[in-house]
Amino acid sequence: MIIAGNWKMFRGPDPYALQELDAVVCPPYTRLRDCVDAGLATYAQNVHWEPEGPYTGEISPPMLLELGVAGSLVGHSERRQYFGETDDTVAKRARAALDAGLRVIACVGETRGERERGETEEVLRRQLSVLEPHPSLVLAYEPVWAIGTGLTATPEMAEEAHEFIKSILDLPVLYGGSVKPDNAAGLLAQSAVDGALVGGASLDVDSFTAICQAAARIPS
Ligand code: PGA
Repeated sequence: MIIAGNWKMFRGPDPYALQELDAVVCPPYTRLRDCVDAGLATYAQNVHWEPEGPYTGEISPPMLLELGVAGSLVGHSERRQYFGETDDTVAKRARAALDAGLRVIACVGETRGERERGETEEVLRRQLSVLEPHPSLVLAYEPVWAIGTGLTATPEMAEEAHEFIKSILDLPVLYGGSVKPDNAAGLLAQSAVDGALVGGASLDVDSFTAICQAAARIPS
């Protein structure tokens, strides 16, 4: 069970206040070192595929490893939506990071329109088609309509999507999209839900701690 806190472009809590948690944090680049120093499993929010080069604003796998960073998110829907990330660049980022020895959480998920048109499985199949199984690769199912909206997939919807994802790529799958202390237990109790990727609720120490505690109570 993995509970990962995605702080996005927020400063997030004091990393030292999270020291007791067996959790992953994905802070902004400027706080990676603080989180590593606090002893937290620390992931970047994105990573480039080249070790170095003329790629303004990007960060490479060796640069992250040099900081003691353990892994990276790739393919978050905000990257796909606002920064032109494609299935192809997500695949390149994931492959390079894994080859370099980083762990990777690769995000997939459908938009509201895609779900309403009955295209969820087709979208997930396309997004997964560029990824290959790897022992350090974990997937995150993040329905775009549930991210930051307060709308959450029901545990049954999450379970159905996770089972579909696992039928294509048999890897651990985290659920993301408005995970909060009051809905975490129900989602995490589903057998195909292997953890959570938490945005807004990871910015508050108490709510992130409550979600981690809910995960710890799920029998493995
Ligand atoms: P949210 O974000 O928990 O605020 O919906 C999840 C994510 O974007 O990873």
